[in-house]
Amino acid sequence: MEYQQLFTDQLNRLKDEGTYRYFLEVNKSAQHFPRFTYQDEQGNSQYAINWCSNDYLGLSSEESLISKLGFAAHRSGTGSGGTRNISGTTNYHKELERTLADWHRKEGALLFNGAYQANVTTLQTLGRQLPGLVFFSDERNHASIIEGIRGCRNEKKIFAHNDMEQLEELLKQVPAEQPKLIVFESVYSMSGTIAPVNAIIALARKYNALTYVDEVHAVGLYGKTGAGILEQENVQSSIDIVNGTLSKAIGVFGGYIAASSVLIDFIRSFGRGFIFTTSLPPAICAAANTSIQLIQREEQRRRQFFSNVAYLRQSLYENGVDFKLNPSHITIIPVAGADRCRELARQLLEKQGIYLQPINSPTVPVGEECLRVICTARHLPKHIHHLALSLKKLLHGDYQTDRQEFPSFALAAGDCEGQD
Ligand SMILES: Cc1ncc(COP(=O)(O)O)c(C=O)c1O
Repeated sequence: MEYQQLFTDQLNRLKDEGTYRYFLEVNKSAQHFPRFTYQDEQGNSQYAINWCSNDYLGLSSEESLISKLGFAAHRSGTGSGGTRNISGTTNYHKELERTLADWHRKEGALLFNGAYQANVTTLQTLGRQLPGLVFFSDERNHASIIEGIRGCRNEKKIFAHNDMEQLEELLKQVPAEQPKLIVFESVYSMSGTIAPVNAIIALARKYNALTYVDEVHAVGLYGKTGAGILEQENVQSSIDIVNGTLSKAIGVFGGYIAASSVLIDFIRSFGRGFIFTTSLPPAICAAANTSIQLIQREEQRRRQFFSNVAYLRQSLYENGVDFKLNPSHITIIPVAGADRCRELARQLLEKQGIYLQPINSPTVPVGEECLRVICTARHLPKHIHHLALSLKKLLHGDYQTDRQEFPSFALAAGDCEGQD
């Protein structure tokens, strides 16, 4: 058996399909974020602006968090040295779980080493421990949700993205006494769409289903204290399980779920991906806790973030750069064809110093290739102008723009302001 050849053949297949992933070395600078350096193909150091970081609020560069991380690391060391059950639980872990539970208005929270692991472990554990449980999952759900549902042999029913009529049709097919779980995201990261949470809650009540929401791209940003879309919609107590990350808007590392104390105890006791892994470093927990408190206290950062998103969209519009209208902070510029999308991204980086990741299949369906623009609270008007003009230049000529009356994007900014 020629093992190396087996691996090489599969890698070559990815390259032939155009889905092989090449990593750009983004040498991040806490001081100059979103500016970073990278080495070009000739080995020369170049500057570029990062337009695809999920460090939405720029908090990973915040001095008070860096200090807290250093302080806690000096006190507790770099790693926890154990699973939660075997010497890996510190006061920092417990304090962070308390903060997360309160933030999401739940009785408890449980830390994981990432939201991916939190999704896989929680969904798998629920499925394995409740074999009759039927999953109802939005077709656009994240890979970690799909993986979690696949990892158990439970029945699953996939509904079209945000399609409440189909969800209801599927719910009707399952006997009333059979346990059910509706799984969805609040903000969908690859389309920028937002789930109709109120309609989902109504269906869950009608058909006696549990609800599970991934708020990974919403925590830190939406709602009066930044707890997410559920807080913004004032429905925190109506959803059973919330999943979130500490690695995006919070700017640190890790993931979690928040739920009733019995459900948290259930996952803590049966979830293999929770039990059999070293816990988060205590200093990471300390920094994440400080970050959440800062987000709760200082609304200004979130205001700045949404106002940058609105300004970005206005600049794109004024420069004739077509983008999808959606109610979230994720700006999607459709670019038909994987090759064209990749080539545009290459030219933006090499000619304009703009780093935008091309999004192709299998991350999005074929035909929905796009450039996905993430504007953070740290982007400046000059960065936004430069991006809009560069896109105009590159897309000009063979790219159709739809010049309707310029719509108001105050919605995204106001989501935050309206909660005063
Ligand atoms: C919707 C969604 N859920 C979960 C995750 C996983 O989050 P983490 O990076 O904390 O593992 C991601 C990561 O990008 C995501 O986009």
